[in-house]
Amino acid sequence: MENELRDFEKVNRANWESRVPLHLEGYQLDRFREDPEFLSGVVRFDTARLGDLAGLDVVHLQCHIGTDTVSLARLGARVTGLDFSPSALDAARELASDTGASIEFVLSSVFDAPSALGDKRFDVVYTGIGALCWLSDICAWARVVAALLRPGGRLYIREGHPVLWAMDDSRDDDLLVLRYPYFEIPGGTAFYDTSTYVASERVVSSPDTIQFNHGLGEIVSAVMAAGMTLTQLVEHDSVPWNPFADQMEQDEIGEWRLREGRERIPLTYTLEAVKAL
Ligand SMILES: C[S@@+](CC[C@H](N)C(=O)[O-])C[C@H]1O[C@@H](n2cnc3c(N)ncnc32)[C@H](O)[C@@H]1O
Repeated sequence: MENELRDFEKVNRANWESRVPLHLEGYQLDRFREDPEFLSGVVRFDTARLGDLAGLDVVHLQCHIGTDTVSLARLGARVTGLDFSPSALDAARELASDTGASIEFVLSSVFDAPSALGDKRFDVVYTGIGALCWLSDICAWARVVAALLRPGGRLYIREGHPVLWAMDDSRDDDLLVLRYPYFEIPGGTAFYDTSTYVASERVVSSPDTIQFNHGLGEIVSAVMAAGMTLTQLVEHDSVPWNPFADQMEQDEIGEWRLREGRERIPLTYTLEAVKAL
């Protein structure tokens, strides 16, 4: 990694490095090795809105251990994955190699992606599902996305809804209570959590994180200010991880929904935007 990480990124990278061994057990990677057509639940959920990726150059920002990245390659895209966690990229390279997927993986902060990727430009920037909450400045992120796209290329993101990120996830009743910032705030919010979103007997050895919320209006405005035009914005009542323990039930592709009163709250959203020709 050429560029020095920012202070909050150093804290967060240590956390992600320590989650990787737990995720290697919890993500059930053998499903990708055993079935050459297996797609992650996240990408399966996206297929209806994602359109045909065959032959397109796609960069997957914050690709983690590569499960969604390999799934995008299985849809026919030429994929590049980018993440700032060396352990995550080691795991992603191994998964790609074991499954015969030809994917380039690049170690970099998202904020330095245009220089890390050199002259490469893409038809699609794909990201989300726990990506934006690690980024301090949504306008800077949107400028990175625009810089990576060819004219006419598109951003596709499905992400945890900012209302969900603002909720108190530690309650044991069925009330939905706002606790954390909805809007982007300088410095973000510090958290301490020895667990991760994948069930494990083991604890996360670097439990400190600094996370950032961005309101839906802030995200849309940042995308527009960076020169992209919105082509889809859909809010969903489901999410691919369980944020509210016993209040939730899971469907067959792994999406979680509230058992009761699911019309009360958006849990994720899909946003697509096109860079001007
Ligand atoms: C929740 S994971 C993404 C999950 C992914 N959707 C999946 O399930 O495979 C978040 C990823 O963002 C990466 N990350 C966090 N902050 C980053 C930054 N500033 N630059 C690059 N990667 C970052 C972490 O290393 C981690 O792999």
